[in-house]
Amino acid sequence: MTRTAAELRGTLARPRGEAARRHGRLPMPPLAYTDEIARATAPLYARVATIIPPVEWPFHAPYVHAINQLKAERNAVILAHNYMTPEIFHCVADVVGDSLQLAIEATKTDAEVIVQCGVHFMAETSKLLNPDKTVLIPDMDAGCSLAASITGADVRALREAYPGVPVVAYVNTSADVKAEVDICCTSSNAVQVVESLGAPRVIFLPDEYLAKYVQTQTDVEIIAWKGHCEVHERFTGAELRAYREADPSIRIIAHPECPPDVLAEADFTGSTARMIDWVKREHPARVVMVTECSMADNVAAETPDVKFVRPCNLCPHMKRITLPKILDSLVSMTEEVVIDPAIAARARRSVERMINLKS
Ligand code: 13P
Ligand code: SF4
Repeated sequence: MTRTAAELRGTLARPRGEAARRHGRLPMPPLAYTDEIARATAPLYARVATIIPPVEWPFHAPYVHAINQLKAERNAVILAHNYMTPEIFHCVADVVGDSLQLAIEATKTDAEVIVQCGVHFMAETSKLLNPDKTVLIPDMDAGCSLAASITGADVRALREAYPGVPVVAYVNTSADVKAEVDICCTSSNAVQVVESLGAPRVIFLPDEYLAKYVQTQTDVEIIAWKGHCEVHERFTGAELRAYREADPSIRIIAHPECPPDVLAEADFTGSTARMIDWVKREHPARVVMVTECSMADNVAAETPDVKFVRPCNLCPHMKRITLPKILDSLVSMTEEVVIDPAIAARARRSVERMINLKS
């Protein structure tokens, strides 16, 4: 029997919102896997059958089914980052992509509610671009080591140290930081954004390794902050050389948040969306995707002929987003992303300036 949003609300009665966060989330009572749900979700399972074993599907399917029903009832859209697990990425997301694609899609949606399946800075970006919509994140504690590495006060101090030098912020920053900078960028447009400023020197924050990568692609002098992604900084050039020694035909593609010695081993460097496009275009026999581990699963589901070698570094923040929490979020309409309007107005300018750049 299919349950309505109201019935689910009853099933899941427990501390909500801020209270739930402070007291720690209680486990979701498991939902039953019925024949009806098996039938209704069969086409969705077909999308992930090569990577989710049949024995696991009964755990995911009731949540997938309930989320997709409730999404329609709430007039909600689910924006999911490429690092979401396959049952989220392929079975409940309406829009998937890298940070830039999700930000652009956030400007286009007619839905009243946005559920951001990603980390907090991504939900803030969606809220900045949709101040009148309800933006929910299924776990408010889904942070990012880069966003945590710098504050608005740090940016003001940088401006004093380098008067007149424009400041570019990677979107992996808080709204507070975005409010203090000239323009935002993502890993797919960082070089273009830096060069768009027409300045000889640019402050680039907070990712030191992305800044170093940009420096290899431009004559503009880059002044970098020393933030790091806790996932990508763990990869090493030595481990990639070992893969290549074991199989010289292997292809290596890497995200620009990786350290320089890792990027030196890569056949291709690009944002998560560009890495996915590369695999679909090139169809390598074997590939190492040097980035968060779930992404290889998502691409593997669509490219069964490609073998993925998986040095499995997971982002603990991205992995906070699960099907039960997405359902909980839609049932209880929590947790809502709220940004101080004075900060939001200035932060929005930096994001919009990036989005309005001609590609
Ligand atoms: P992308 O914009 O390439 O998806 O990167 C976001 C991110 O957080 C990578 O760690
Ligand atoms: Fe942040 Fe790294 Fe996680 Fe991306 S993978 S959200 S940069 S901690």
